[in-house]
Amino acid sequence: MSPTPVTTSLPTQPASYSWEATDEEVAARYGVPLERVLRFDLNTSPAPPELAPRILAEGAFEAPLSEYPPSDYRRLIETAARVYGVGTDELLVGAGADEILDLCAKAFLPPGGRAVVPAPTYAMYRVVTEQRGATADLVPRLGRDDGYALDLDASRAAAAEADLVWLCSPNNPTGLPEPEGAIETLLDVIAVDALAAGREPATVVLDEAYAEFVGASLVGLRERHPNLVVVRTASKAYALAGLRVGFAVARPGTIARIATYRPPGSVSTVSVTVVAAALDEPAAMEANVARVDAERDRLTDALREAGWDVGPTVTNFVLVDFGSAERAAIAATGLLRLGLVPRTFPAGHPLAHALRLTIRDRAGNDRLITAANEIRPELEAAGG
Ligand SMILES: Cc1ncc(COP(=O)(O)O)c(C=O)c1O
Repeated sequence: MSPTPVTTSLPTQPASYSWEATDEEVAARYGVPLERVLRFDLNTSPAPPELAPRILAEGAFEAPLSEYPPSDYRRLIETAARVYGVGTDELLVGAGADEILDLCAKAFLPPGGRAVVPAPTYAMYRVVTEQRGATADLVPRLGRDDGYALDLDASRAAAAEADLVWLCSPNNPTGLPEPEGAIETLLDVIAVDALAAGREPATVVLDEAYAEFVGASLVGLRERHPNLVVVRTASKAYALAGLRVGFAVARPGTIARIATYRPPGSVSTVSVTVVAAALDEPAAMEANVARVDAERDRLTDALREAGWDVGPTVTNFVLVDFGSAERAAIAATGLLRLGLVPRTFPAGHPLAHALRLTIRDRAGNDRLITAANEIRPELEAAGG
């Protein structure tokens, strides 16, 4: 087991997703008690909303567990439509945002097709593209000083040749939203170029997994752009990653195209019931966002004091630049020895010199701050 995951990408094999080591693997390899292992690699929240254990204890689910979930997920769809401000025919439920991404690849990417992936970004866009037998056109983002924003000209040129464009705002793993107006501009020029070329515009899938942390969404752009699919999730701000619920939001015709590929019952009755309740009672989600807001600056300042180069973020994670892959590996190993699991990036990745770390609760973040100070001499000995 390496602290750094390796993505296998042989010519005959599509990219596949790589996880960090499990809690048990970390405990065994680094001699840490299992209960001391703390995950900073998954951008999840420290605890589910209280309504989750309450509903589970009551066992009052929408349908008996001996039956399949309602095929139209009606109650969940009605609740989500209200929360996102869209029609019930403009939504599709999936087993997490990840299933939605997979369904979008199936619906909009023909085998042999082409998808634009502004890199670095969430690994699954490339994975689902290549697993579809399509080509991922990796378009480098602007540099760190430009907030890793989309390269609009390069993305426009690539989109003119593509079936699908994967966007993520705020972007994982760089932590910032696209600049105001950039996505709207890209959608507009894609439409103009497609009209001029007499072809269908590429479908634009905009992953808003972290939208609640900024309190803004571009879901309204679907009205003018039927080729836009917005992706949302219950995994991040709603703190329900284990239930695996995500949504596609788009114009009804676009949703119908995705729905062709939807498997029956991939989202459990338990998940449907709890997530509908969580969407209906947003107080816990809002408190979770407030926790992240309160901890973001404190954690960033303390890590900077420990000598770490922490980038700006609007999300529930930070990206730390260690200057070289060697120094990032030293930091990763140092954290793992203390039971803290960072998100690493493999050799050759544009962020191989960085680690991504979830903003946890105060006590969890304190452990990270203490660890950063403990690792400091080792990092200083390794030079800058
Ligand atoms: C940008 C982005 N999209 C999607 C996902 C997956 O979300 P879900 O748990 O809903 O499948 C993640 C999880 O880290 C993510 O960061």
